[in-house]
Amino acid sequence: MSSQPVGIFDSGVGGLSVLRDIRAALPAESIDYVADSANAPWGDKPAEFIRVRGLEIAGFLVAQGVKAMVIGSNTGTAGSAEALRATLTMPVIAIEPGIKPAAAATRSGVVGAIVTTTMGASDRMASLLDRFGRNVRVISVPVPGLVEHVEAADLDSAELRGLVEGYVRPLLDQGADTIVLGSTHYVFLRPLIAEIAGDDVTIIDTGAAVARQLARVLAERGLAAPHEAKASERFWTSGDPEESQRVMSALLGRKVSVKKLTV
Ligand code: DGL
Repeated sequence: MSSQPVGIFDSGVGGLSVLRDIRAALPAESIDYVADSANAPWGDKPAEFIRVRGLEIAGFLVAQGVKAMVIGSNTGTAGSAEALRATLTMPVIAIEPGIKPAAAATRSGVVGAIVTTTMGASDRMASLLDRFGRNVRVISVPVPGLVEHVEAADLDSAELRGLVEGYVRPLLDQGADTIVLGSTHYVFLRPLIAEIAGDDVTIIDTGAAVARQLARVLAERGLAAPHEAKASERFWTSGDPEESQRVMSALLGRKVSVKKLTV
């Protein structure tokens, strides 16, 4: 069992930022990754679409033999975590926006959270704000358009820069000293966001916390890969495999091969 892969999925390539954190923390774990790039962005789709898609993709990963499921998508968590936990017997680790660490980090008492439209409107976001955002002001803003740039491996074009400036500047003007990256796609825009926000602003993403949580759960359940295991990685996309291969290789900074997803 322990040498079986961990499954990760996202609407597209954003979850690769989580894969990167898991790879760094757990070098012996094999990973099966699914990008639903044909349907990205999920962030402007109804929660019900994401629930159904999450179940379909999880079913595919289970058929590949994964031992644990990581939802590498905040929007995917909002839409499908509950359904997956009700259906699967394996551990499900689900990323969510770091409102809690942001509330602990802010000195100005103002936190900006950039999220997808669906995430921003979700019960999960309302619950996070209710539990962790009470003693600070959290300005949660949907930022449509960014995911499409990351899906094309564009992390720095003039058009993207303009878009990010337009979203981040108003948060800074309102006193935010901490910015939550509420989509795994935005993690790839961290250098650009940091450049715009400046050194005094703390940027929060939760990929490393997910990797730590995965490590904990695998150890607890006796599912961790042996230290000497040789990790493998497999990638599938619902989009065009050749294009996905180009984009994923560019984002990861190493060549990966991507197969067509059949669900
Ligand atoms: N990367 C996902 C997230 O963390 C989904 C973004 C999208 O497809 O809109 O929210």
